[in-house]
Amino acid sequence: MSRTKIIAGNWKMYKTIAEAVSFAYEFVAGFREGERETVVCAPFTQLPALKRAFSGSGVKLGAQNMHFEDEGAYTGEVSPGMLTEIGVDYCVIGHSERRQYFAETDETVNKKLKAAFAHGIAPIVCVGEVLEQRDAGKAFDVVKSQIEKGLSGLSREDAARLVVAYEPVWAIGTGRTATPDQAEEMCSFIRRTVKDLYDADTAAKTRIQYGGSVKPSNATELLSREEIDGALVGGASLSPVDFKSIIEF
Ligand code: 13P
Repeated sequence: MSRTKIIAGNWKMYKTIAEAVSFAYEFVAGFREGERETVVCAPFTQLPALKRAFSGSGVKLGAQNMHFEDEGAYTGEVSPGMLTEIGVDYCVIGHSERRQYFAETDETVNKKLKAAFAHGIAPIVCVGEVLEQRDAGKAFDVVKSQIEKGLSGLSREDAARLVVAYEPVWAIGTGRTATPDQAEEMCSFIRRTVKDLYDADTAAKTRIQYGGSVKPSNATELLSREEIDGALVGGASLSPVDFKSIIEF
């Protein structure tokens, strides 16, 4: 079964609205919607302007976080409905930076995944071990537990629609990329975990990305691997030239 590769940029806390729009116009010029799905996950303030700038181009729009409740007294938070009102297609859930700095847990990730699906937002759920866990030989246990807890109670249909991003924390923003073998080994382990939770048919549909220092120079060797269904790209997605070159790996 062939899965459409999905390459998503995660802009983190970078760019003004003006810079985002200028990226979009440069990126969209000459962009052809091909066999690969392209997503830009931007800060909240930029989303409406990017929605307009990407309109008709085939580039999909993503947020980087959302709350799981529909509304309420949650100062500073943004609800799923507020994102669908803008026309957001995707939302990154459980990025390691949110787990590390903003008290995101497998439990909140699970609630957010359910809320995203309930609102028709496609989640990109991030999992991955820190360096000490890899060095201690615990990487697979850590990721398995993140998947089992994060996906708890999700239907087969939702699991099949899910995008999982395997992002080893030691490879994020460090320039130290996982080797294609390491990345593929974990992506394939994640698929086996999804298979054990659901079934082979569901697991064959779940898309599993690699993220962590993906750049034009290493995109081909990572993305041409059978078990790696795409990439979640941080730093290199801020440049329209580099991001395009990754998509055209
Ligand atoms: P870098 O590509 O900058 O290492 O970031 C990866 C990441 O965290 C994407 O979500």
